Amino acid sequence: MEPMNPKTTLVLLHPDQRVGANMQRWRQLGGGKAIILAVRSPAAILEQVKQAELRGLGGSGFPAWKKWEAVAAETPKPDKYLVVNGNEDEPGTFKDRLLLEETPHQVIEGAVTTALAVGANRVVFYVNPDLSRSLAAMRIALEQWKSSDLVELASTALGRPLELLLAPGSGHYIGGEETAAMEWIEGRFPFPRGKPPYPAQSGIKGCPTLINNVETLAYVSHIAVHGAQWFRDLGKAPGLGTKLYSLSGDVLHPGVYELPKGTSLRELIFDHGGGLLSGKPLKAVFTGGPSSTLLTPADLDVALDFESLKARGSNLGTGAMIVVSEGTGIVKRVAEYERFFAHSSCGQCTSCKTGTATISRLLDRIDTGRGTMSDLNTLKNLCAMLPGSGRCHLVNGAAMLLDSAFGHFNDEFVQAVAKSGRS
Ligand SMILES: Cc1cc2nc3c(=O)[nH]c(=O)nc-3n(C[C@H](O)[C@H](O)[C@H](O)COP(=O)(O)O)c2cc1C
Repeated sequence: MEPMNPKTTLVLLHPDQRVGANMQRWRQLGGGKAIILAVRSPAAILEQVKQAELRGLGGSGFPAWKKWEAVAAETPKPDKYLVVNGNEDEPGTFKDRLLLEETPHQVIEGAVTTALAVGANRVVFYVNPDLSRSLAAMRIALEQWKSSDLVELASTALGRPLELLLAPGSGHYIGGEETAAMEWIEGRFPFPRGKPPYPAQSGIKGCPTLINNVETLAYVSHIAVHGAQWFRDLGKAPGLGTKLYSLSGDVLHPGVYELPKGTSLRELIFDHGGGLLSGKPLKAVFTGGPSSTLLTPADLDVALDFESLKARGSNLGTGAMIVVSEGTGIVKRVAEYERFFAHSSCGQCTSCKTGTATISRLLDRIDTGRGTMSDLNTLKNLCAMLPGSGRCHLVNGAAMLLDSAFGHFNDEFVQAVAKSGRS
C-alpha cells in the first residue's frame, strides 16, 4: 500500500477503501482478501493481531488480542457474538462515523475476519442512531455482503450461518459503554452491567461476546493481508501502526487525520491542522475526547501514542483532540463538558449521578460569578473521591478532566471565585 502523500501513510483512509457502499468497486480494488485468509487459518489472524500489538481505539487502549483469546477459548452458548461499537457520541470524536459512512466494506471485512478468528457466528454493527449517513451506507453494504460469496465462505468455515445484524443504538452516550451496549441490543435501557461476569464469558443473552471499536476492527483486514510487521513499521516507533485523530476546535483545518502513531501533537495541529485560527497562541488541548486530561503548549512535542501520553499522565483515548486558543476561558469550557457528563450519567450509581451533577452545578456557579472557595474545595475533594466509584468509567472521565483542569489552570478557577466577592 503506497503512501498517498509524503506527509501521510494512509491505511484506513486510503482511497481504495473510500468507495462508500460500492462493493463491486471495493472488490476490484482488492477488498475481501482477508476473509479468504481467515477462512484458511483463523488462528493465524489472532496471532498476527497479537504480534501487531493492536490496541482498542474506543478509549481504553486495551490490547485487542487479550479479549480475542478469551472469547476464542469459549464455547458458543448457543451463539457467540461480536459487537462492532459505533456508538461514538463523545464531544469532539467523529472518526468512526467517517469509517462507517465512507468505508463500510472495510469495517465489515475487519469484523468478519475477527468473527472468524474468535469463532463468532453473530456480528452486530451497533451504530449511533443520529449518524444517518453511516447507517444508510452500512444498510446497503450489509445487504451486499449477505448475498456474497464471502459470507458463504465464512459460514462454511464456521460450520453454521454467519449472521450480520445492524442495530441502531439508543442515542445515549452511556450506550457506548460495552455492557450498556449489550443491554440495549437485548432490548433494554442501556444501563451498564456490573462485572464480572465479563462479556467474553457472558455477554449478549449470556453468550460469549467480543466487543471492539469500529476503528480497532477496521485495521484487522490490513494486518491479516499485509502482516503484523508491516503494521508495526507504519508507526514512528516500532509496534505503533497508524491512528485516526479527530481534530477540532480553534484550528484552521479541522477534520479526521490518519497519521503514524508517535507523530507529535505539534505536527498534528500545525502541519496537518494548519495551526490555530487567526494565528492565536495555543492554550490547551482536550485529549481523547474531554473524558481525559488537558495538554498544554509544554506538551506540543509529545509523541501521540499510548505510552508517551501515559507517561505524561494523559491518555490517547479515541484520538480526539479539541484545540483551545488563548482567550478562551477554561472554566467555561470545563463547565460545558461537565454538564455533558452530568446529563449523560445513567443514574444507576449514586456517586456518578450526584457526583457529576454536583460538579456541574458548582462549576456553573463559579463560571457565572457566584462561586466560593468552599465550592472550589468541594470540587477538589470530588476529584479525589469519585474515581473508581461507578460501575463504568463515566464518572472517572468527569473527575479526570476536572482534576487536570485544576492542575494546569488553577489560577483561572481562583480568579473566577475572587470576582464573585464571596470567597
Ligand atoms: C461512558 C462510556 C461511553 C463509551 N462509548 C464508546 C463508544 O461510543 N465507542 C466505543 O468504541 N467505545 C466506547 N466506550 C468504551 C467501551 O466500553 C469499550 O471499552 C470499547 O468499545 C472496547 O473496544 P476497543 O477495545 O476496541 O476500544 C465507552 C465507555 C464509556 C465508559
